[in-house]
Amino acid sequence: MDHFLYRDGVLHAEDVPLPEIAAAAGTPFYVYSTATLTRHFRLFDEALAGMDHLVCYAMKANSNLAVLRVLADLGAGMDVVSGGEYRRARAVGVPGDRIVFSGVGKTRAEMRLALEGGIRQFNVESEPELLALSDVASGLGLTAPIALRVNPDVDARTHAKIATGKSENKFGIPIARAREVYAEAAALPGIEVVGIDVHIGSQLTDLAPFEAAYTKVADLTAALRADGHDIRRLDLGGGLGIPYARDNSAPPLPLEYGEVIRRTVGHLGCEVEIEPGRLIAGNAGLLVSEVIYRKVGEGRDFLILDAAMNDLIRPAMYDAWHDIVPVAEPAPGAERGPVDVVGPVCESGDTFAVQRDLPHMVAGDLVAFRSAGAYGAVMSSEYNSRPLIPEILVKDEQFAVIRARPSFDEMLKRDTIPEWL
Ligand code: LLP
Repeated sequence: MDHFLYRDGVLHAEDVPLPEIAAAAGTPFYVYSTATLTRHFRLFDEALAGMDHLVCYAMKANSNLAVLRVLADLGAGMDVVSGGEYRRARAVGVPGDRIVFSGVGKTRAEMRLALEGGIRQFNVESEPELLALSDVASGLGLTAPIALRVNPDVDARTHAKIATGKSENKFGIPIARAREVYAEAAALPGIEVVGIDVHIGSQLTDLAPFEAAYTKVADLTAALRADGHDIRRLDLGGGLGIPYARDNSAPPLPLEYGEVIRRTVGHLGCEVEIEPGRLIAGNAGLLVSEVIYRKVGEGRDFLILDAAMNDLIRPAMYDAWHDIVPVAEPAPGAERGPVDVVGPVCESGDTFAVQRDLPHMVAGDLVAFRSAGAYGAVMSSEYNSRPLIPEILVKDEQFAVIRARPSFDEMLKRDTIPEWL
């Protein structure tokens, strides 16, 4: 179900025509659909129905407070990877016992923040982190609930920059050493072992790597229980991919993913956590931009947009493919042809699409990038002193700016020129 559809020849977000938002907020902007966020969260929740479970949204995908509030109100837990994300979760009212803390480099200050504020569990990624956490927790007179993130040495078959489950990646503890490290954890004063954590990568379009990893986790659960550990919770990470190109074969559905979970770990009687980010937020958002110029180049035309790599870095960083569509629906049989879609930043890498077959567009036309709700706004920057772009949330026929564009005054005021200059 797509909540970004043409109606009367104009692309809408739910019931709001995008030109109306462009007129109110200016371009470029991100726009999110409440209905899509809700639907995607529920798909995961329903996929695990009947099992004791918690869907912890990986807020690194999109951590706007309004987006978090939509999900928190549905009962989502949160997967956080920094003190900042922890604070965001708490700010929208997520209780500590629904927050898991992931990440390879948690600082002592971040550990303290979560221990004092309340935490469901830390997903610990190394022995030095384990020792530091025990030390911090003991110092506060507390015990830290933990799962050790194991690295199952499984090839996630995704882009190298977002694969995390191979032995050469920086993540987790090699699964072969897990029993040894669990024994170490159990002996530490500030640590309580509650479970096992695994996450093998992002944008997985095949269930086989999940199946392989979760099978290893099931075997490890049995081994650790035999060693005397009370393994009662399994955090199975995130990573289920989304369709970026509409003509591509669709990745597996949450329901099918849920079946893999049931089949591999369902018999263990553990509480199951998952940490999806992209599938919840990705197709819930568009980036909308205006064409500044159509430039006729040497053998090719360029559509130069007012959005750039600083607003959406995925094409430059991962060679990611985003569907690009005109906001005004082209008439049947309208002229089209290949064009390079680029931004105004002074690097050739500021290219969104090369020789993309698109309807003929000219200066002033609006275009929308689909599947931009995850890892879009959160990865943006002010490179070239381009202000962060606004984010808009739509619900039915209502819309609101949920992060405003900063003024140039605000941007300039963030810098300080020392007195001695
Ligand atoms: N849990 C952990 C421990 C993670 O590292 C990640 C993503 C997730 C959950 C959520 O994975 P998802 O369900 O969203 O695939 N910026 C990249 C993606 C980086 C993903 C990092 N970790 C991109 O734009 O493709």
